[in-house]
Amino acid sequence: MKSNKITSGIYGNINIPGDKSISHRSIIIPSISNGISEINNILKSDDVLHTLNAFKKLGVKIINKDKKIIIHGNGLHSLQKSKDNIYLGNSGTSARLLTGLFASQSFDTIIEGDKSLSSRPMDRIIEPLKLMGANFENINGKLPLKINGSKLKNTKIIIDIPSAQIKSGLLLAALKTSGITSIVEKNITRDHTENMLELFGADISIKKNGVEKLISINGNKELKSNNIDVPSDLSSSAFFIVAALINEGSKISISNVNINPTRDGILRALEKMGAKIKILNKKNVGGELIANLNVEYSNLNGCELNANMAKLMIDEYPILSIAAAFANGPSLFKGLGELKVKESDRLNLIKINLLRCGCFCEVVNNDLLIKPSKIYNPVNNTIRTDFDHRIAMSFAVMGTRINNLFIEDSESINTSFPNFKEIFNTAGGNLI
Ligand code: S3P
Repeated sequence: MKSNKITSGIYGNINIPGDKSISHRSIIIPSISNGISEINNILKSDDVLHTLNAFKKLGVKIINKDKKIIIHGNGLHSLQKSKDNIYLGNSGTSARLLTGLFASQSFDTIIEGDKSLSSRPMDRIIEPLKLMGANFENINGKLPLKINGSKLKNTKIIIDIPSAQIKSGLLLAALKTSGITSIVEKNITRDHTENMLELFGADISIKKNGVEKLISINGNKELKSNNIDVPSDLSSSAFFIVAALINEGSKISISNVNINPTRDGILRALEKMGAKIKILNKKNVGGELIANLNVEYSNLNGCELNANMAKLMIDEYPILSIAAAFANGPSLFKGLGELKVKESDRLNLIKINLLRCGCFCEVVNNDLLIKPSKIYNPVNNTIRTDFDHRIAMSFAVMGTRINNLFIEDSESINTSFPNFKEIFNTAGGNLI
């Protein structure tokens, strides 16, 4: 894909597709509940379709209807062994969450993924599940992974890595485990799984002590079906928000966006940089905070963000780095170690590609320093993405201010945002 400079800004009402994290959970939880759940505005991107196909392989009846799906759940004990291995493509969320769910089934499952997913750490979910008595056949803590379904025992598990995927995998394992499983989370991470489990009637209780959270879940209690309206994805919205902020004349609005406070760091960070973002009509829908966003072109300042912010916006550093490249002063983003184990080594790719664009940038001890220039003369017009959707979309936004950026392997955008190019161009972008 080629990204070309734009002259009259980004404008209009932008219709951002459904939230990826909530879409995955909107398949997993209804599939093991009792009754029919109708899921509106679900994201139909490659990652989410891998989760959907996994449940079809396990015998769940799922009907596709335009922007919604209808799931016929038959309860906690209804999943059946898949005839084939389950392929999860690029999706880390599917891999971590389903490993937890499959560990407590009465059958074995083999999961596998693409090149990127097969290089990402799975030991972070395997090891805590082993404390519950889970059983795996695996040599290197990566995919492919054979999960030998077992009767798990309830226990107390402490999670040190800031990862909602680990927490969610453990919660799904605990659903079919007798007695109370306690999970202590040392860091704030997105809480969509807890919210949805509460909505579906799980026996779950949550106690907070500062940033630490104790989740207790009493297993073997059947869940009840529920309908879900999936809100628009803040992570996908961020590409449009930053495109509007850095292009003169821009004015956009995005409605129904999920601004769950456990993952709204990008809004706080941009506000700290002086972004003109109005958050309107806040409301709570199914345990999630939703709002409309109005954004206009702004003179951005650089900013310093501490390591705690990384937990509230880990997926947004690639696009935040583009905002920083057009700010009036340097920015320093601290504590980005987790960025190295995403769909690519994002910390390295942000650095390589900003340098190619002519923007000074360095990484010291997982801290990222960006020193913007007034004018960019690319040293190399080719953006290396390593098939990472968020790197591709972030540098597509960079290209609105630099002519002729060629984004390699941009088909990866289908992972989370299949109609990105069309929506971006309708809003004033120039992607070819
Ligand atoms: C996700 C959690 C995050 C995030 C990913 C989606 C989720 O990963 O990066 O895109 O849906 O739970 P970690 O929790 O591993 O940081």
